[in-house]
Amino acid sequence: MTSIKKTKIAVLAGDGIGPEVTQQAIKVMNAVTERFGGYFEYCFADVGAVAIDRTGSPLPDITLEACLNADAILFGAIGDPKYDNDPKAKVRPEQGLLKLRKELGLYANIRPVTTYERLLHLSPLREDRIKGVDLVIYRELTGGIYFGEKGTSEDGQQAFDTCTYQVEEIQRIAKLAFEQALLRRGKVTLVDKANVMETSRLWRKTVQEMAEDYPDVELDFMFVDNAAMQLIQNPRQFDVMLTSNMFGDILSDEASVLAGSLGLLPSASIGLHTSLFEPIHGSYPQAAGQDIANPMAAILSAAMLVESLGMAEAARAIRLAVQHILEKGFGTPELQPSAVYGCSQIGDLAALLVADPDEEILVREDKLQQKISTII
Ligand code: IPM
Ligand code: MN
Repeated sequence: MTSIKKTKIAVLAGDGIGPEVTQQAIKVMNAVTERFGGYFEYCFADVGAVAIDRTGSPLPDITLEACLNADAILFGAIGDPKYDNDPKAKVRPEQGLLKLRKELGLYANIRPVTTYERLLHLSPLREDRIKGVDLVIYRELTGGIYFGEKGTSEDGQQAFDTCTYQVEEIQRIAKLAFEQALLRRGKVTLVDKANVMETSRLWRKTVQEMAEDYPDVELDFMFVDNAAMQLIQNPRQFDVMLTSNMFGDILSDEASVLAGSLGLLPSASIGLHTSLFEPIHGSYPQAAGQDIANPMAAILSAAMLVESLGMAEAARAIRLAVQHILEKGFGTPELQPSAVYGCSQIGDLAALLVADPDEEILVREDKLQQKISTII
């Protein structure tokens, strides 16, 4: 009897559109096993506002345990307006995410930004500026000002947040960035504020020393204010952008505008124990349950997940499927596609394209049309 390799996936679908987009990613992952073998065992757990409603905590212990026992985590989205509008709320869905990052040691947040020819017009930026953009942001995720000492004075007249970095924290993410650059166009841009901040100077020194071990990588430095400008003025100059927690938070939202839709961008958070994969969009509560949310970001996050498990071919198949769907003009409403499909139909279609071992289907439109008509 042969045993099938079982991979444990913790699924934290979260709030708003989180569950519906995550469901599409699962369809696609099941299609991966159909075509490439293996077996995913899913363990569903609560996080965010749904977890607060059920247990009082945005990250219940049982959820954390499920994550620690998993080979990878598929994450949806968290957030609910009832917490956003209450500055006095003691418990917030976001605390669940921050705690998860810290507890699992999710130190490197990776956000690739690519543009699709057919969607260039959706970006508020000029098409000739964004055409061919292909960059990836490596954002440090468990240090810096997010997790440094913070507080408010007793009289409420003063507050502080501290930015602290250890050399080791810088080295472990910089190593990933250098290695990624070797697989890409061989360039790392370290984004910092070394003209003002001591921590930035430590980043520069550390990364500069490491660069000696990577003679094939071109290392470049850029102040964050300039980088914010360059990202919209000349985004093609970037290959791998490496930066600290807060700068990365801001720049990655800015970079997402290049792609034209938040619904297309995946992310991976690489951890010490396990890694987490999530779309970069939020919970979009207004769209929840309406089957209009774009599942592409969640599906592309599943591609990053399978890639991290060593299934490079499967990851490629998922990306090809997404590309094909977009190029043929299918999509959820916000993409203004020539053929509007629901979240779940896009998931079905992507799963179908991934499962079919006949790569030809990717180029034979008539066959694809036939298959689609059986879904809708
Ligand atoms: C993100 C989000 C989080 C962050 C929030 C929800 C705490 O903006 O993942 O980028 O600031 O890191
Ligand atoms: Mn953010």
